Amino acid sequence: MMEHKRFYITTPIYYPSDKLHIGHTYCTVATDAMARYKRLCGYDVLFLTGTDEHGQKIEDKAKEAGVSPKEFVDRIVEGPQGVKDLWKLMNISNDRFIRTTDDYHVSSIQKIFKTMYEKGDIYKGEYVGKYCKPCESFWTESQLVDGKCPDCGREVQDAREEAYFFRLSKYADRIQHLLEDTDFLEPRSRVHEMVNNFIKPGLEDLCVSRTSFTWGVPVDFDPGHVVYVWVDALFNYTTALGFLNDRYHDYEKYWPADVHFVGKEIVRFHSIIWPAMLMSMDMPLPKKVFGHGWLLLDGGKMSKSKGNVVDPYLLAQRFGVDALRFFLLRTFPFGSDGNFSNEALINTINVDLANDLGNLLSRTVSMVSKYFGGTLPQAQAEDPEKDGDLVTLSSSLRGRYEEQMEKFAFQNALSEIFKVIDRANKYIDENAPWVLAKDMEQNGSRLAQVMYNLLEVLRITGILLAPFIPASAAEILRQVGACEDCRSWESAGVWGSLRKDVTVARGENLFPRIDMDKELSALEELAAQAKKAALPPLEVEPQLTEKVDFDTFCKSDFRAVKVKSCEAVKKSNKLLKFTLDDGTGTDRQILSGIAMYYKPEELVGKTLMAIVNLPPRKMMGLESNGMLISAVHTEHGEERLNLLMLDDKIPAGAKMC
Ligand code: ME8
Ligand code: MG
Repeated sequence: MMEHKRFYITTPIYYPSDKLHIGHTYCTVATDAMARYKRLCGYDVLFLTGTDEHGQKIEDKAKEAGVSPKEFVDRIVEGPQGVKDLWKLMNISNDRFIRTTDDYHVSSIQKIFKTMYEKGDIYKGEYVGKYCKPCESFWTESQLVDGKCPDCGREVQDAREEAYFFRLSKYADRIQHLLEDTDFLEPRSRVHEMVNNFIKPGLEDLCVSRTSFTWGVPVDFDPGHVVYVWVDALFNYTTALGFLNDRYHDYEKYWPADVHFVGKEIVRFHSIIWPAMLMSMDMPLPKKVFGHGWLLLDGGKMSKSKGNVVDPYLLAQRFGVDALRFFLLRTFPFGSDGNFSNEALINTINVDLANDLGNLLSRTVSMVSKYFGGTLPQAQAEDPEKDGDLVTLSSSLRGRYEEQMEKFAFQNALSEIFKVIDRANKYIDENAPWVLAKDMEQNGSRLAQVMYNLLEVLRITGILLAPFIPASAAEILRQVGACEDCRSWESAGVWGSLRKDVTVARGENLFPRIDMDKELSALEELAAQAKKAALPPLEVEPQLTEKVDFDTFCKSDFRAVKVKSCEAVKKSNKLLKFTLDDGTGTDRQILSGIAMYYKPEELVGKTLMAIVNLPPRKMMGLESNGMLISAVHTEHGEERLNLLMLDDKIPAGAKMC
């Protein structure tokens, strides 16, 4: 009888502010592999994922898209190629999916917030920071860019906002102890990071409510305040079990979580703020937080704003879901950063999957078909000297694999499997079945044993690969003729589980080899197309239909001018004052309303184009003699302007015609 063991594992819940990319896929695939592994081992597993749908960012994005925040998130979570679709495609076996906009979650969060408030761990205070009036945004000192609003670049002012605070400082000692003296947080390197960067400098109380936007869980006892999105998000791990709600009823059974997998940039929230809030709520702490590394692209973080995201749909479509899942966990150590590249992906597929595993499977199954008509005979002849090495290595594989899996060392667990697969390929060469097959009467039973051993290796590795490549592993087990009983975790540790007179089933080639050069250029072409399609919609003014006769046109005197100096006009946030060399020997002054687009100093020395025979005009008490020519268009509803810059070889005063 199997002991009843339970295992609760979570992924971060994703911000549905954009489509997910391969970096997001990484963590969820890793969590899925762990969940499947634990199920294989006989655990009663709960695997939770979901979406974190509140906050200013979502509110802003929805506004930009001209829809309500709920409509906006619905589309990304439930819509075509949305979050749920992606997890389905990637064969993610989550048992539950939480959306923080779900009613049961919202009401639980309100109760949790109130509980901490009544306990005195949440108190009302004043949030002191910086405020950008045009953007209506609060910022902290550290969020500012060059002391200005990070969104629009304008001046900010000191601001105070009434807000609730969580007494994080009160828990500093207990958190430090948790991090330093237990194995709550892994890998260990992240502990030093947390303690040195956040705890030692002094933990400050945390602002946990906002009044400057509304898209969040309302604080029910103080209208106008919404709960800080991280408080809302972190408790998902418990509300999804039914904590303080009636939607689910297995909080007692599954809490505390066995492990939260999270990306390294959110380790701070999970290893400091989260346990502190649980302490405040008198709830048990999760057993472990594991902070994994990032998938990088050209050494930098993937981000939508940088436009360097990799599309998992595209890769899964071209290479297959299992190949992609395998690549992610085989290539990068889970705790460290790794560089994604198409070359690395194709290389892993070709070497491990096509060459080593795929070949072993197709060679073995086709030899059993060819030499024995698909069914091995009972009569088999062992040769301890020739088989011993392979048998020992294979029958002890499960133990080595388990040791690595228990440490979340997916890459090492896979290395152990591939050592055995390599050994089996060598075993084929050593035993040269094609030579044995030349004299079946003499060598038939030995040949049968050789084939049996190869099928056993495929069976055992097939079972252990199932968490990583579930569909392909099932196909491997089908092809080698594994019965239900010899697909189990127990049987993965028992050499010889397959019936002696096993019947194989031929099947398609699981992992076809990829032509690296051809595929790389195809991917490049696709990337170029995608880039083109993603260009922002431009709006340019329609062309005028009214004609102007040539002589009238020639009356406009366009000249090249060189900027001698340029400065902002005092008390105007639009005007720049230019002193220009127009080739006449006398300076020309032109005022131009382009201060939003250029800093004065960056224009000095530039050769621009101006119309110089407009009648003089006064602006802010200053005279302007002419107008600088620029190109104007609209992008995302915002006007963009670029001064027409001429080649510096063109002398001041040159006439444009
Ligand atoms: O952080 N490589 O959501 P999120 C590896 N809503 N992991 C990556 C990655 C990359 N290139 N890019 C993103 C949030 N991730 C919060 C979580 S949990 C209570 C709330 C990972 O959508 C990232 O590290 O911004 C994080 O763990 C996860 O994707 C979700 O990121
Ligand atoms: Mg994030």
